[in-house]
Amino acid sequence: MSENKHAVRILALESSCDETAAAVVENGRDILSNVIFSQVDVHALYGGVVPEIASRAHVDACDRVIDRALSDAGLTLSDMDALAVTYGPGLVGALLTGVSCMKGLSFATGLPLVPVNHIEGHVSANFLSNPSLTPPFICLVASGGHSHLIRVEDYGTYTLLGQTVDDAAGEAFDKGARVLGLPYPGGPQLSHLAETGDDTYLKLPRPNPEGRYDFSFSGLKTAFINACHRLEQSGLPLPGPDLAASYQKAIVDSLCEKSILALRDSGLSTLCLAGGVSANLRLRAQMTRLADENKFTLCMPQIGLCTDNAAMIGSAAYYRYQKGVRASLSLNAAPSLSLL
Ligand code: KG4
Ligand code: ZN
Repeated sequence: MSENKHAVRILALESSCDETAAAVVENGRDILSNVIFSQVDVHALYGGVVPEIASRAHVDACDRVIDRALSDAGLTLSDMDALAVTYGPGLVGALLTGVSCMKGLSFATGLPLVPVNHIEGHVSANFLSNPSLTPPFICLVASGGHSHLIRVEDYGTYTLLGQTVDDAAGEAFDKGARVLGLPYPGGPQLSHLAETGDDTYLKLPRPNPEGRYDFSFSGLKTAFINACHRLEQSGLPLPGPDLAASYQKAIVDSLCEKSILALRDSGLSTLCLAGGVSANLRLRAQMTRLADENKFTLCMPQIGLCTDNAAMIGSAAYYRYQKGVRASLSLNAAPSLSLL
Protein backbone atom coordinates (compact mmCIF):
# COMPACT_ATOMS: atom_id res chain seq x y z
CA MET A 1 0.00 0.00 0.00
CA SER A 2 1.35 3.45 -0.87
CA GLU A 3 2.17 5.66 2.09
CA ASN A 4 0.48 9.05 2.22
CA LYS A 5 2.88 11.97 2.60
CA HIS A 6 0.65 13.73 5.11
CA ALA A 7 -1.48 12.38 7.93
CA VAL A 8 -4.97 11.29 6.85
CA ARG A 9 -7.60 12.34 9.36
CA ILE A 10 -11.02 10.78 9.26
CA LEU A 11 -14.14 11.76 11.21
CA ALA A 12 -16.17 8.57 11.73
CA LEU A 13 -19.72 7.98 12.93
CA GLU A 14 -21.18 4.72 14.29
CA SER A 15 -24.91 4.26 14.94
CA SER A 16 -25.71 0.64 14.03
CA CYS A 17 -27.32 -0.36 17.34
CA ASP A 18 -27.61 1.44 20.68
CA GLU A 19 -24.47 3.59 20.84
CA THR A 20 -24.13 6.89 19.00
CA ALA A 21 -20.40 7.36 18.60
CA ALA A 22 -18.05 9.69 16.76
CA ALA A 23 -14.26 9.70 16.58
CA VAL A 24 -11.35 11.32 14.80
CA VAL A 25 -8.66 8.82 13.75
CA GLU A 26 -5.33 9.56 12.10
CA ASN A 27 -3.77 7.16 9.58
CA GLY A 28 -6.04 4.35 10.76
CA ARG A 29 -3.98 3.89 13.92
CA ASP A 30 -4.07 6.95 16.18
CA ILE A 31 -7.20 7.99 18.05
CA LEU A 32 -7.40 11.78 18.32
CA SER A 33 -10.83 11.63 19.96
CA ASN A 34 -13.41 8.98 20.73
CA VAL A 35 -16.88 9.93 21.97
CA ILE A 36 -19.59 7.40 22.83
CA PHE A 37 -23.12 8.29 23.81
CA SER A 38 -24.70 5.12 25.17
CA GLN A 39 -28.45 4.56 25.15
CA VAL A 40 -28.19 1.62 27.57
CA ASP A 41 -30.21 3.29 30.34
CA VAL A 42 -33.18 3.91 28.04
CA HIS A 43 -33.25 0.36 26.62
CA ALA A 44 -32.63 -1.25 30.03
CA LEU A 45 -36.20 -0.26 30.96
CA TYR A 46 -37.43 -2.66 28.23
CA GLY A 47 -34.88 -5.44 28.74
CA GLY A 48 -33.33 -4.99 25.30
CA VAL A 49 -32.83 -2.59 22.40
CA VAL A 50 -36.07 -1.05 21.10
CA PRO A 51 -35.27 -0.16 17.45
CA GLU A 52 -37.61 2.83 17.15
CA ILE A 53 -36.30 4.38 20.37
CA ALA A 54 -32.73 3.75 19.22
CA SER A 55 -33.32 5.59 15.91
CA ARG A 56 -34.82 8.59 17.64
CA ALA A 57 -32.03 8.73 20.19
CA HIS A 58 -29.43 8.62 17.38
CA VAL A 59 -31.14 11.56 15.65
CA ASP A 60 -30.88 13.54 18.89
CA ALA A 61 -27.26 12.59 19.56
CA CYS A 62 -25.53 12.57 16.14
CA ASP A 63 -24.73 16.29 15.94
CA ARG A 64 -23.61 16.45 19.55
CA VAL A 65 -21.19 13.52 19.37
CA ILE A 66 -19.70 14.86 16.13
CA ASP A 67 -19.18 18.35 17.63
CA ARG A 68 -17.64 16.77 20.70
CA ALA A 69 -15.32 14.48 18.72
CA LEU A 70 -14.00 17.46 16.76
CA SER A 71 -13.57 19.66 19.83
CA ASP A 72 -11.92 16.87 21.86
CA ALA A 73 -9.42 16.46 19.00
CA GLY A 74 -8.89 20.24 18.90
CA LEU A 75 -9.76 20.19 15.20
CA THR A 76 -12.48 21.40 12.85
CA LEU A 77 -14.11 19.89 9.78
CA SER A 78 -11.61 21.72 7.58
CA ASP A 79 -8.82 19.62 9.16
CA MET A 80 -10.49 16.38 8.00
CA ASP A 81 -9.52 14.48 4.86
CA ALA A 82 -12.62 12.28 4.83
CA LEU A 83 -15.78 11.25 6.64
CA ALA A 84 -16.77 7.67 7.42
CA VAL A 85 -19.98 5.98 8.47
CA THR A 86 -21.18 2.49 9.37
CA TYR A 87 -23.77 1.47 6.74
CA GLY A 88 -24.39 -2.14 7.91
CA PRO A 89 -25.04 -4.62 9.37
CA GLY A 90 -27.34 -3.42 12.14
CA LEU A 91 -30.78 -1.99 12.83
CA VAL A 92 -32.10 -0.34 9.69
CA GLY A 93 -33.47 2.81 11.35
CA ALA A 94 -30.39 3.25 13.51
CA LEU A 95 -28.08 2.86 10.50
CA LEU A 96 -30.18 5.24 8.41
CA THR A 97 -29.83 8.09 10.88
CA GLY A 98 -26.03 7.84 10.77
CA VAL A 99 -25.88 7.38 7.00
CA SER A 100 -28.19 10.35 6.39
CA CYS A 101 -26.28 12.53 8.81
CA MET A 102 -22.89 11.80 7.21
CA LYS A 103 -24.21 12.09 3.65
CA GLY A 104 -25.51 15.55 4.59
CA LEU A 105 -22.16 16.49 6.10
CA SER A 106 -20.31 15.18 3.06
CA PHE A 107 -22.57 17.17 0.71
CA ALA A 108 -22.18 20.34 2.78
CA THR A 109 -18.39 20.14 3.20
CA GLY A 110 -17.34 18.42 -0.03
CA LEU A 111 -15.42 15.84 2.04
CA PRO A 112 -15.43 12.29 0.60
CA LEU A 113 -17.53 9.75 2.50
CA VAL A 114 -16.18 6.24 3.14
CA PRO A 115 -18.80 3.53 3.82
CA VAL A 116 -17.73 0.99 6.46
CA ASN A 117 -18.94 -2.49 7.41
CA HIS A 118 -19.50 -2.68 11.17
CA ILE A 119 -17.81 -6.09 11.45
CA GLU A 120 -14.77 -4.81 9.58
CA GLY A 121 -14.75 -2.02 12.16
CA HIS A 122 -14.60 -4.54 15.01
CA VAL A 123 -11.67 -6.34 13.34
CA SER A 124 -9.90 -2.99 12.82
CA ALA A 125 -10.13 -2.09 16.53
CA ASN A 126 -7.07 -4.32 16.76
CA PHE A 127 -5.04 -1.89 14.63
CA LEU A 128 -5.73 0.84 17.18
CA SER A 129 -4.57 -1.14 20.22
CA ASN A 130 -1.70 -3.06 18.62
CA PRO A 131 0.48 -0.61 16.64
CA SER A 132 2.72 -3.26 15.08
CA LEU A 133 -0.13 -5.57 13.97
CA THR A 134 -0.30 -6.18 10.22
CA PRO A 135 -2.15 -8.86 8.21
CA PRO A 136 -2.19 -11.78 7.70
CA PHE A 137 -3.81 -13.05 10.89
CA ILE A 138 -6.77 -15.07 12.14
CA CYS A 139 -9.54 -13.11 13.86
CA LEU A 140 -12.32 -14.29 16.13
CA VAL A 141 -15.22 -11.85 15.85
CA ALA A 142 -17.69 -12.46 18.69
CA SER A 143 -20.41 -9.87 19.17
CA GLY A 144 -24.11 -9.65 19.93
CA GLY A 145 -25.07 -10.55 16.37
CA HIS A 146 -22.02 -12.42 14.98
CA SER A 147 -19.58 -15.18 15.79
CA HIS A 148 -17.12 -15.55 12.95
CA LEU A 149 -13.67 -16.98 12.51
CA ILE A 150 -11.99 -15.19 9.64
CA ARG A 151 -8.62 -15.11 7.96
CA VAL A 152 -7.53 -11.52 7.38
CA GLU A 153 -5.30 -11.87 4.34
CA ASP A 154 -4.68 -8.16 3.85
CA TYR A 155 -6.40 -4.91 4.84
CA GLY A 156 -9.98 -5.41 3.66
CA THR A 157 -9.41 -8.94 2.31
CA TYR A 158 -11.14 -11.64 4.32
CA THR A 159 -11.86 -15.35 4.06
CA LEU A 160 -14.61 -16.83 6.20
CA LEU A 161 -13.38 -19.96 7.98
CA GLY A 162 -16.34 -20.62 10.24
CA GLN A 163 -19.33 -19.06 11.93
CA THR A 164 -22.12 -19.83 14.35
CA VAL A 165 -24.77 -22.16 13.02
CA ASP A 166 -27.36 -20.69 15.41
CA ASP A 167 -26.94 -18.04 18.15
CA ALA A 168 -24.05 -15.60 18.36
CA ALA A 169 -21.78 -15.79 21.42
CA GLY A 170 -22.99 -12.42 22.73
CA GLU A 171 -26.59 -13.50 22.26
CA ALA A 172 -25.83 -16.66 24.29
CA PHE A 173 -24.37 -14.50 27.08
CA ASP A 174 -27.40 -12.19 26.99
CA LYS A 175 -29.95 -15.03 27.05
CA GLY A 176 -28.16 -16.79 29.90
CA ALA A 177 -28.11 -13.54 31.82
CA ARG A 178 -31.85 -13.12 31.35
CA VAL A 179 -32.49 -16.60 32.81
CA LEU A 180 -30.46 -15.55 35.86
CA GLY A 181 -32.63 -12.43 36.21
CA LEU A 182 -29.80 -10.05 35.35
CA PRO A 183 -30.59 -6.68 33.77
CA TYR A 184 -29.75 -5.71 30.17
CA PRO A 185 -27.06 -5.68 28.85
CA GLY A 186 -26.58 -9.21 30.12
CA GLY A 187 -23.09 -10.22 28.94
CA PRO A 188 -21.05 -7.95 31.20
CA GLN A 189 -23.47 -8.57 34.12
CA LEU A 190 -23.16 -12.35 33.81
CA SER A 191 -19.40 -12.06 33.55
CA HIS A 192 -19.32 -9.95 36.71
CA LEU A 193 -21.52 -12.42 38.61
CA ALA A 194 -19.28 -15.29 37.48
CA GLU A 195 -16.23 -13.76 39.14
CA THR A 196 -16.95 -15.39 42.51
CA GLY A 197 -18.50 -18.58 41.11
CA ASP A 198 -17.29 -22.17 40.79
CA ASP A 199 -17.09 -22.96 37.06
CA THR A 200 -17.21 -26.72 37.69
CA TYR A 201 -20.61 -26.50 39.43
CA LEU A 202 -22.68 -27.39 36.35
CA LYS A 203 -21.67 -29.81 33.60
CA LEU A 204 -22.72 -28.29 30.28
CA PRO A 205 -22.34 -29.64 26.75
CA ARG A 206 -19.72 -28.31 24.33
CA PRO A 207 -21.70 -28.54 21.06
CA ASN A 208 -19.54 -29.44 18.08
CA PRO A 209 -21.25 -28.64 14.77
CA GLU A 210 -20.17 -30.28 11.53
CA GLY A 211 -18.11 -27.42 10.13
CA ARG A 212 -14.57 -27.69 11.53
CA TYR A 213 -14.48 -24.02 12.57
CA ASP A 214 -18.20 -23.47 13.20
CA PHE A 215 -19.77 -22.59 16.54
CA SER A 216 -23.10 -23.56 18.05
CA PHE A 217 -24.52 -22.06 21.23
CA SER A 218 -28.20 -22.87 21.05
CA GLY A 219 -27.96 -26.39 22.58
CA LEU A 220 -25.78 -25.05 25.36
CA LYS A 221 -28.29 -22.29 26.06
CA THR A 222 -31.18 -24.79 26.22
CA ALA A 223 -29.20 -27.10 28.55
CA PHE A 224 -28.50 -24.10 30.79
CA ILE A 225 -32.13 -22.94 30.84
CA ASN A 226 -33.31 -26.48 31.67
CA ALA A 227 -30.78 -26.82 34.48
CA CYS A 228 -31.90 -23.47 35.96
CA HIS A 229 -35.57 -24.49 35.77
CA ARG A 230 -34.85 -27.83 37.45
CA LEU A 231 -33.08 -26.02 40.28
CA GLU A 232 -35.95 -23.52 40.62
CA GLN A 233 -38.46 -26.37 40.86
CA SER A 234 -36.46 -27.94 43.66
CA GLY A 235 -37.28 -24.79 45.65
CA LEU A 236 -33.64 -24.03 46.47
CA PRO A 237 -32.19 -20.57 45.79
CA LEU A 238 -30.30 -20.42 42.49
CA PRO A 239 -26.52 -20.41 43.02
CA GLY A 240 -26.15 -17.46 40.61
CA PRO A 241 -22.35 -17.07 40.63
CA ASP A 242 -21.75 -20.84 40.14
CA LEU A 243 -24.29 -21.04 37.32
CA ALA A 244 -22.87 -17.93 35.64
CA ALA A 245 -19.29 -19.22 35.94
CA SER A 246 -20.17 -22.67 34.50
CA TYR A 247 -22.10 -21.14 31.60
CA GLN A 248 -19.41 -18.56 30.85
CA LYS A 249 -16.76 -21.31 30.87
CA ALA A 250 -18.73 -23.35 28.33
CA ILE A 251 -19.02 -20.39 25.92
CA VAL A 252 -15.39 -19.37 26.36
CA ASP A 253 -14.13 -22.97 25.92
CA SER A 254 -15.96 -23.20 22.58
CA LEU A 255 -14.59 -19.88 21.35
CA CYS A 256 -11.04 -20.81 22.38
CA GLU A 257 -11.09 -24.34 21.00
CA LYS A 258 -12.25 -23.37 17.50
CA SER A 259 -9.98 -20.31 17.34
CA ILE A 260 -6.89 -22.33 18.21
CA LEU A 261 -7.86 -25.00 15.69
CA ALA A 262 -8.25 -22.40 12.93
CA LEU A 263 -4.97 -20.73 13.84
CA ARG A 264 -3.04 -24.03 13.88
CA ASP A 265 -4.46 -25.16 10.54
CA SER A 266 -3.72 -21.77 8.96
CA GLY A 267 -0.02 -21.91 9.64
CA LEU A 268 -0.21 -18.28 10.81
CA SER A 269 1.12 -17.14 14.17
CA THR A 270 -1.19 -14.27 15.15
CA LEU A 271 -4.69 -14.50 16.57
CA CYS A 272 -6.83 -11.39 17.11
CA LEU A 273 -10.03 -11.06 19.11
CA ALA A 274 -12.80 -8.64 18.19
CA GLY A 275 -16.39 -7.70 19.03
CA GLY A 276 -18.19 -7.04 22.30
CA VAL A 277 -17.53 -10.51 23.73
CA SER A 278 -13.77 -9.92 23.44
CA ALA A 279 -14.21 -7.57 26.43
CA ASN A 280 -14.91 -10.71 28.50
CA LEU A 281 -12.16 -11.08 31.09
CA ARG A 282 -12.39 -14.85 31.23
CA LEU A 283 -12.00 -15.11 27.44
CA ARG A 284 -9.04 -12.71 27.50
CA ALA A 285 -7.33 -14.61 30.32
CA GLN A 286 -7.89 -18.06 28.82
CA MET A 287 -6.68 -16.93 25.38
CA THR A 288 -3.62 -15.29 26.95
CA ARG A 289 -2.76 -18.58 28.68
CA LEU A 290 -3.25 -20.51 25.43
CA ALA A 291 -1.05 -18.03 23.55
CA ASP A 292 1.67 -18.60 26.13
CA GLU A 293 1.38 -22.38 25.96
CA ASN A 294 1.12 -22.58 22.17
CA LYS A 295 3.59 -19.79 21.40
CA PHE A 296 1.42 -17.59 19.23
CA THR A 297 0.91 -13.84 19.27
CA LEU A 298 -2.42 -12.75 20.72
CA CYS A 299 -3.81 -9.30 19.92
CA MET A 300 -6.89 -7.82 21.54
CA PRO A 301 -8.43 -4.36 21.40
CA GLN A 302 -8.25 -2.54 24.72
CA ILE A 303 -11.48 -3.23 26.62
CA GLY A 304 -13.15 0.07 25.72
CA LEU A 305 -12.63 -0.59 22.00
CA CYS A 306 -14.18 -4.11 22.02
CA THR A 307 -17.77 -2.91 22.18
CA ASP A 308 -19.29 -0.52 19.64
CA ASN A 309 -17.34 2.68 19.05
CA ALA A 310 -16.50 4.99 16.15
CA ALA A 311 -12.70 4.85 16.44
CA MET A 312 -12.78 1.32 15.00
CA ILE A 313 -14.87 2.65 12.08
CA GLY A 314 -12.30 5.40 11.52
CA SER A 315 -9.53 2.79 11.41
CA ALA A 316 -11.32 0.53 8.92
CA ALA A 317 -12.22 3.61 6.85
CA TYR A 318 -8.58 4.63 6.49
CA TYR A 319 -7.64 1.43 4.64
CA ARG A 320 -10.72 1.72 2.43
CA TYR A 321 -9.96 5.39 1.78
CA GLN A 322 -6.42 4.46 0.66
CA LYS A 323 -7.96 2.00 -1.80
CA GLY A 324 -10.19 4.72 -3.24
CA VAL A 325 -13.49 3.46 -1.81
CA ARG A 326 -16.03 6.32 -1.74
CA ALA A 327 -19.78 6.38 -1.14
CA SER A 328 -22.08 8.29 -3.44
CA LEU A 329 -25.02 10.26 -2.12
CA SER A 330 -27.22 7.26 -2.93
CA LEU A 331 -25.58 5.26 -0.10
CA ASN A 332 -28.27 3.38 1.81
CA ALA A 333 -28.37 1.47 5.09
CA ALA A 334 -27.65 -2.25 4.56
CA PRO A 335 -29.02 -4.04 7.65
CA SER A 336 -27.88 -7.51 6.51
CA LEU A 337 -24.55 -6.49 5.00
CA SER A 338 -22.04 -9.32 5.18
CA LEU A 339 -18.28 -9.00 5.46
CA LEU A 340 -17.42 -11.44 2.71
O1 KG4 B 1 -19.90 -5.74 19.45
P1 KG4 B 1 -21.02 -5.34 20.32
O2 KG4 B 1 -20.83 -4.13 21.20
O3 KG4 B 1 -22.31 -5.08 19.49
C1 KG4 B 1 -22.64 -5.84 18.38
O4 KG4 B 1 -22.12 -5.53 17.28
O5 KG4 B 1 -23.41 -6.81 18.57
O6 KG4 B 1 -21.36 -6.62 21.20
C2 KG4 B 1 -22.35 -6.61 22.15
C3 KG4 B 1 -22.40 -7.97 22.77
C4 KG4 B 1 -23.57 -8.14 23.72
O7 KG4 B 1 -24.16 -9.40 23.47
C5 KG4 B 1 -22.91 -8.09 25.08
O8 KG4 B 1 -23.62 -8.80 26.07
C6 KG4 B 1 -21.57 -8.72 24.79
O9 KG4 B 1 -21.20 -8.22 23.54
N1 KG4 B 1 -20.57 -8.33 25.81
C7 KG4 B 1 -20.03 -9.20 26.68
C8 KG4 B 1 -19.17 -8.45 27.51
N2 KG4 B 1 -19.21 -7.14 27.11
C9 KG4 B 1 -20.09 -7.10 26.06
N3 KG4 B 1 -20.20 -10.52 26.83
C10 KG4 B 1 -19.50 -11.12 27.80
N4 KG4 B 1 -18.67 -10.47 28.64
C11 KG4 B 1 -18.47 -9.15 28.54
N5 KG4 B 1 -17.64 -8.52 29.37
ZN1 ZN C 1 -20.70 -4.26 17.26
